[in-house]
Amino acid sequence: MRIDILTILPGLLEGPFSESILKRAVARGFVEIVVHNIRDYAQNKHKQVDDYAFGGGAGMVMSVEPIHLLTEKLKKERRYDEIIFLTPDGEKYTQKLANYFSTLGNIIILCGHYKGVDQRIRDHLITREISIGDYVLTGGELAAAIIVDSVVRLLPGVLTDETSALTDSFQDNLLSPPVYTRPATYKGWKVPEILLSGNAAEIEKWRFEKSLERTKKIRPDMISD
Ligand code: ADE
Repeated sequence: MRIDILTILPGLLEGPFSESILKRAVARGFVEIVVHNIRDYAQNKHKQVDDYAFGGGAGMVMSVEPIHLLTEKLKKERRYDEIIFLTPDGEKYTQKLANYFSTLGNIIILCGHYKGVDQRIRDHLITREISIGDYVLTGGELAAAIIVDSVVRLLPGVLTDETSALTDSFQDNLLSPPVYTRPATYKGWKVPEILLSGNAAEIEKWRFEKSLERTKKIRPDMISD
């Protein structure tokens, strides 16, 4: 998979992909992540990438040209399955979308800023508009890092235990059950007996019940009946 990220703040995306699982996924060739500075495609002397909104109003708007030039260049090089714009007024990001994105070959992620992007970018270049939640960030970069993280960990071979992504919260519409590790007793705090029993079927049943209990309590909206 290849992910191209378009941003005016490439420095914000240096950290997230250079640690742990994402770093390893890149090093092993499961994913190629390329961060592009939109400013490099500005055609004016001051490398300006935004301008005042027509009709007035507070806040700057990201201009069409540099983003268009950059996306056209990339599209000449390869075919993209989705060109995603990150914006608080987009479709809500979910595990279902992460699963879908992880099946794609090449995607572009455009990080929004200021008062947004010129609507013509959304109308003519973007195939999908995504929000990571009902709150407003200063820009789309941190949202891009979240999306890349949630997608890359799903690529076959990225997680060392192949089954672990399948048992994540949300994959079966339930939150995960509690987990414990050694010691079995810490200052009188005990691990549930059932987990020490070695009875796989009973443990599975207990985990399912706990998942259901947690989901009913914390996210009743996830249980549709
Ligand atoms: N940019 C600003 N806020 C955002 C959000 N909630 N999701 C995606 N991109 C954003």
